[in-house]
Amino acid sequence: MQPDFWHQRWHDNQIGFHQDQPTPLMLKHWPSLQVPAGTRVFVPLAGKSRDMAWFAAQGHPVLGVELSRIAVEAFFAEHGLTPAVRESKYGRHYEAEGIELICGDAFALDEAALADCGAVFDRAALIALPPNLRERYVHELYARLPSHCRGLLITLEYPQHEKDGPPFSVIEDEVHERYARDWNVTTLERRDILAQQPRFAEEGVTALDTVVYRLQRRD
Ligand SMILES: C[S@@+](CC[C@H](N)C(=O)[O-])C[C@H]1O[C@@H](n2cnc3c(N)ncnc32)[C@H](O)[C@@H]1O
Repeated sequence: MQPDFWHQRWHDNQIGFHQDQPTPLMLKHWPSLQVPAGTRVFVPLAGKSRDMAWFAAQGHPVLGVELSRIAVEAFFAEHGLTPAVRESKYGRHYEAEGIELICGDAFALDEAALADCGAVFDRAALIALPPNLRERYVHELYARLPSHCRGLLITLEYPQHEKDGPPFSVIEDEVHERYARDWNVTTLERRDILAQQPRFAEEGVTALDTVVYRLQRRD
């Protein structure tokens, strides 16, 4: 997906992916990761996700990265926060209450930018990307996360020929294949959610699962 696609989505407020509450499967599975309070959580392709506020409330500083300035500014406004703003080579940084959002391209973040992130949370991020970008996303961006990093990845699976992405279907084999080089991957839960997602059924999708993975970076 080109940046213009996402800028247009935010401009037109076509943000069906946004949830008004923290992700229920994150609330269920995050505790099993046993990420110590104080550990900074990286949220790639962050949108204005409420999950970031939840992490901060649990004592996790947050680093998010998001292309859209509309999304970044909406996040702080909707939480009644006035962020400090500064520029760097990565983009425009907004920071308040332990939540730092970089308005910029996730692929431009280097190891130094991610050095103090001990955890990662990926919801609607890997699956927002077409196959060629997923390859880069895992082998470049995830590869820059520090050793011992752990995280939660939430995907969708449906017959890809029944609908165009995003969101894209990313099947379990692909997750294992892409992450195998640097990460231990454990499937935590698979759930049939077709009945809760009528828009997919309206588009002709006949099966829809969400899958939650635990990721553990190897040294
Ligand atoms: C499907 S949305 C998911 C947002 C968020 N994770 C959530 O759960 O609501 C994907 C987001 O990624 C952003 N995005 C896409 N490509 C990006 C990139 N290369 N760098 C940073 N953000 C990007 C888009 O603007 C969009 O807000």
